[in-house]
Amino acid sequence: MKKRFLTAAILLGMLFLPAMSSADACIDCHSKISPGQVTDFQISKHAESGDVTCATCHGDKHKSADDFQLAVLPDEKVCAECHEDQFKQFTAGKHNFGWTSLNALPAAHMAPDELIEGGRGCGGCHNMGIKSEEQKKDLRGKGYRYQNNSCDECHTRHTFSKKEALNPRACQQCHMGYDHPQWEMWSSSKHGERHFAKLEGSLPEKAAAPTCQHCHMPDGNHENHTAWGFLGVRLPLPEDQQAAADRITILKALGVLNPETGDPTPVFDAVKAVKMARLDQESWEKERNKMIATCAECHSEEYAREQLAMGDAILQKSDRLMAEAIETVAGLYKDGIIKKPDGYPYNYPLLLTFMHTNGANWNEKLDDLSYIDQVLVQMYMKHRMRAYQAFFHVNPDYAYWYGWNEMTKDLGEIKELAKTMRANHAATK
Ligand code: HEC
Ligand code: HEC
Ligand code: HEC
Ligand code: HEC
Ligand code: HEC
Ligand code: HEC
Ligand code: HEC
Ligand code: HEC
Repeated sequence: MKKRFLTAAILLGMLFLPAMSSADACIDCHSKISPGQVTDFQISKHAESGDVTCATCHGDKHKSADDFQLAVLPDEKVCAECHEDQFKQFTAGKHNFGWTSLNALPAAHMAPDELIEGGRGCGGCHNMGIKSEEQKKDLRGKGYRYQNNSCDECHTRHTFSKKEALNPRACQQCHMGYDHPQWEMWSSSKHGERHFAKLEGSLPEKAAAPTCQHCHMPDGNHENHTAWGFLGVRLPLPEDQQAAADRITILKALGVLNPETGDPTPVFDAVKAVKMARLDQESWEKERNKMIATCAECHSEEYAREQLAMGDAILQKSDRLMAEAIETVAGLYKDGIIKKPDGYPYNYPLLLTFMHTNGANWNEKLDDLSYIDQVLVQMYMKHRMRAYQAFFHVNPDYAYWYGWNEMTKDLGEIKELAKTMRANHAATK
């Protein structure tokens, strides 16, 4: 049966396909309706190889304008059929948690859908990671059909180019701005300056200039993790007593430790599940040593260790400022000067305000957040991030003026606000 069907298909194919193969049909019609896409495909290595057509990724069920919804919108598993290595590395990397870590936050479900599932705002950068069937159903249910593939975040469709992904600009859209300005820091550091000087011909092409990919995807490995990660907290606690106390204060304000009992909360499990922080010394050291080996391609190992140790040290010093600010605001909660907003689990400030709300209306929560709390959130999300990330990305201006300097200003403002709030509170009593 099967064999006879195949023979018939081959015969039919020989008769009709040379003139009307589905590959030609797709390209013929789409050359008229979306010519830019066809050109991008035609200049790709996929087209050059001759092994890949439109139908390889989209199937051949859709044949006309009326049935375009039958076209498969390919997820990463389709790419894995031919690129298993990159798929496996990606799966083990941090990018694979982008969508899950976003959706782990109740806030994601309270913000307008356009900013999450629609793929702008938070969802415009966090649409990374292989989606579960449940996550896909949720998307469809809200009327969103696209965002099925992460690979095209760096190898944009339909050129799917390696050269494009090797350009640091491939990372720029997401790694920039408020709380993670790696693009701004790197591009204006000596590392970035040399990269651009090479492009502009001021340095020979062979000159050494590390890019994002050089340091974070060594040997083209798609598995990306860093030692500290985004939150800049880790376990075990530092040996220094003050430093340990400061980190505990920050963990409480992140909602990871219960401010009253000091016990881990459900947020701790969420942090663990998506690897938001290294929770033992070994996993931290593994990433750190990998990075040192990369620096050592162009620097002495000693030099590199000293540079990164300075980053660790400034993080600890930033945490001293941060903890003092948190304690100042926490005192206002304790003395009833700030009322705990609805949905706050504890009578304590919460830094990642989008991380904990369980009330019905996110916007109501924002109204509830006191101004001094907003300054505190900014101190953590914007200025502390800059103070330490700038050391790792070798940017003096971000390290001092946009980082440390702004943190000291935030702390000054918080103390002044607290004084006024206490005085007003006493006067109205
Ligand atoms: C006779 C014309 C025609 C042919 C042949 C054709 N398409 Fe299309 N295709 C369309 C039109 C029209 C749309 C809808 C475009 C729009 O929404 O603007 C479309 C949409 C699509 C979409 C987007 C689907 C979506 O949900 O947004 C994909 C993918 C696609 N085509 C791939 C293919 C592939 C692969 C083939 C060959 C197997 C093919 N097309 C053949 C006309 C055609
Ligand atoms: C290597 C796989 C691959 C090939 C080959 C491929 N596509 Fe796509 N295409 C994708 C991916 C991935 C998406 C994004 C899916 C999503 O966002 O859910 C996509 C999306 C689309 C869309 C809808 C989104 C948009 O930007 O308009 C159209 C239309 C489309 N492809 C047409 C084509 C046509 C025509 C060809 C052949 C000239 C082609 N594709 C070849 C992978 C491929
Ligand atoms: C049917 C097999 C097949 C599928 C499916 C496939 N590819 Fe490819 N891919 C190839 C071939 C063949 C090449 C060219 C190999 C070469 O030049 O070494 C290639 C090359 C590439 C390259 C390197 C291009 C360059 O500039 O050197 C990238 C990136 C890539 N594919 C990404 C993807 C992505 C992303 C998907 C899924 C959306 C995908 N591929 C799906 C077969 C496939
Ligand atoms: C401009 C792109 C962009 C936008 C918009 C964005 N994020 Fe992110 N987000 C990132 C990047 C990039 C990282 C990783 C940064 C780093 O490690 O320095 C990240 C990290 C995170 C993390 C920590 C993940 C971890 O495991 O370390 C959470 C949680 C998060 N974002 C939630 C959100 C929420 C909620 C929103 C919207 C209110 C949002 N993001 C908006 C790009 C973005
Ligand atoms: C579409 C947006 C997007 C693009 C493009 C992107 N990233 Fe990311 N990146 C993210 C998000 C979101 C996270 C945090 C993932 C999570 O929530 O778990 C992240 C995390 C990371 C991390 C892990 C940090 C940690 O916590 O240890 C590194 C390293 C990284 N990205 C490097 C890169 C590099 C290098 C490029 C360019 C080649 C790049 N990214 C391109 C969005 C993006
Ligand atoms: C010279 C090597 C180097 C280059 C180039 C580089 N980074 Fe980094 N990056 C680091 C180091 C070192 C760390 C901190 C690692 C640790 O925690 O020990 C880091 C950390 C990160 C993190 C985690 C949060 C943070 O900032 O500490 C992200 C995300 C990231 N880099 C993205 C990028 C992006 C995107 C680019 C390009 C715009 C880039 N990096 C360029 C070395 C580099
Ligand atoms: C964060 C950006 C980023 C994402 C996301 C990404 N890639 Fe890549 N990819 C790169 C970079 C950078 C290179 C070049 C690595 C090198 O050669 O140093 C690359 C190279 C490749 C190559 C060419 C390998 C070779 O040497 O010929 C393939 C194939 C590929 N990626 C497939 C994929 C697939 C499949 C996915 C999704 C599972 C994916 N990539 C997701 C950045 C990315
Ligand atoms: C591909 C080569 C290369 C890699 C990898 C590399 N660097 Fe560099 N780095 C350079 C060059 C070249 C300079 C410019 C030297 C100068 O200023 O004279 C430089 C400069 C620096 C500077 C000094 C900037 C200044 O203002 O004097 C620091 C600090 C630095 N790198 C740290 C690191 C660290 C830490 C790593 C690893 C995370 C690293 N580099 C990885 C090539 C590299």
